[in-house]
Amino acid sequence: MFNLILFGPPGSGKGTQSEKLIEKYGWKHLSTGDLLRQEMKTETKLGREAKEFIQNGQLVPDSVVIGMIESALEANPNAKGFLFDGFPRTVAQAEALDRLLEQKQTAIHSVLFLHVNQDELIHRLIGRAKTSGRLDDADPEIQRRRQEVYRNETLPVAEYYQRYGKVEHVKGEGAVEDIFQLLCTEIDQKQ
Ligand code: AP5
Ligand code: MG
Repeated sequence: MFNLILFGPPGSGKGTQSEKLIEKYGWKHLSTGDLLRQEMKTETKLGREAKEFIQNGQLVPDSVVIGMIESALEANPNAKGFLFDGFPRTVAQAEALDRLLEQKQTAIHSVLFLHVNQDELIHRLIGRAKTSGRLDDADPEIQRRRQEVYRNETLPVAEYYQRYGKVEHVKGEGAVEDIFQLLCTEIDQKQ
């Protein structure tokens, strides 16, 4: 089993690269953003609660997303690995994930950190806003808040894994295919 976290700020290409990685490596893709948007679309209780946070660019409470990940892990007992995208986003989430994986006698094997400069991030999100229909893409103020929340609450997650020597830094600017090759090189060295 191989478990990977694709880490990086909003707009760094986590979703784009995840699609390509799961196709190549056959892992189960777990994006808490996608799972939450599905809950909002089907208007579940959880979806209605999450909407208040998402449309303001704030994080959904830890207990909610940890519960979602726990269910997803249980629902996929035979997965050959998990690719976490947009999770963990707080140190409390990272600690909870470690505990959940330990119960399954596995662990996080690698954290790949996509680095993209701030101007490029905003440029990408403005571009995506034209077609995504995402509540949190439409408003430049919310886009800025998402970047701020990332710096304050999510960046410490990279430090958390850095302590265990699990983080590899990858340049997330340039052609999608070139970045994909860089990620594959890192993964193939670890596997
Ligand atoms: P989430 O859905 O996770 O969004 P995010 O982290 O803000 O990141 P994005 O999905 O916006 O960006 P991405 O890195 O996937 O980039 P993408 O590939 O799409 O979270 C949304 C919200 O849900 C959060 O704000 C929070 O409220 C809540 N939430 C989710 N998880 C949570 C958690 N664990 N805890 C608490 N709350 C949580 O690319 C972006 C754009 O750039 C696309 O248009 C793409 O086509 C383009 N692009 C990609 N690569 C390139 C490239 N190389 N060159 C040019 N353009 C590119
Ligand atoms: Mg995404």
